[in-house]
Amino acid sequence: MIRLDKYLSDSTAFSRKEIRSLVKRRTITVNGNFARSADMKVNENADTVCVNGENIVYRKFIYLMLNKPQGYLSATEDDRDPVVVELIPEELKHFAAFPVGRLDKDTEGLLLLTNDGQFDHELMSPRKNLYKRYYAELDTPATEEDVKAFASGMHFKDFTAKPARLEIDPEDPSKVYVEISEGKYHQVKRMCEQVGKNVVFLKRVAIGDLQLDPALECGKVRELTAGELAIFGW
Ligand code: URA
Repeated sequence: MIRLDKYLSDSTAFSRKEIRSLVKRRTITVNGNFARSADMKVNENADTVCVNGENIVYRKFIYLMLNKPQGYLSATEDDRDPVVVELIPEELKHFAAFPVGRLDKDTEGLLLLTNDGQFDHELMSPRKNLYKRYYAELDTPATEEDVKAFASGMHFKDFTAKPARLEIDPEDPSKVYVEISEGKYHQVKRMCEQVGKNVVFLKRVAIGDLQLDPALECGKVRELTAGELAIFGW
C-alpha cells in the first residue's frame, strides 16, 4: 500500500501540490469513489485510480530506447551542449530517466535511458559481459590483419582491451562492424587508431541481443517492450 499522492506523482507529471488540489476538486476516484485525501492509502497492484475519468496505471520505472543523434551529450545536464534527456517526450519527462552508459557526442545510435538504478547497475556491470555492436566508417580500408589485431586483445597505456570482433564489409572495406564487451572511453575509436585508421562515423546498433529498432528515427525515443526487457532478464 502506498499514499495516493505517491501513486500519482510516480506515475504522472502531477506534483503533490496539484494532486492535493485535484482531490479537493473531486477529480480523483479510487475504485469509483472520490478520493478522501491525498495521503489516503491505495493498493498500487489492485486499486483503480482515475483522474478526470482516466485510468492511471501505477508505475515507477521507465525504460527507453533512444536513437541518439550526433551533437548530444550522454548526460542529464550540461551548460554548453544539448543533452540526450532533452529528447524524451514531454509526457515521459517526469520519470527523470538518465542514460545507461555513454556514447560520445559525435556517436549515433542505440542508447538506453531509465530511472531504475538497479537496471543501470546490472547493464553496466562488467560481470554481465554484454556485447555492444557498432557500425563504423573508417578513413582507410580495414584488412584481415586488423581483424587479427582486434581478436588478440589490444594493449593501451591505461588498459588492455578484451578480444573484440571486427567484421569488414566485403563490398567496401572502409565500412566495418565492431563488437566489444567493455565500454572504455573512446574504445572503438582508439582500437581503430591502433591499427592506423580513423573513425569518421560511428553508430551503436546493438547492446547484447537488443537491436536498435530500424523504424526508430534518429533523435526519437520509445519505450522498451516487455520482450526487449526480457533480453536483459528484467
Ligand atoms: N567507442 C567510441 O569510441 N565511442 C563511442 O561513443 C562508443 C564506443
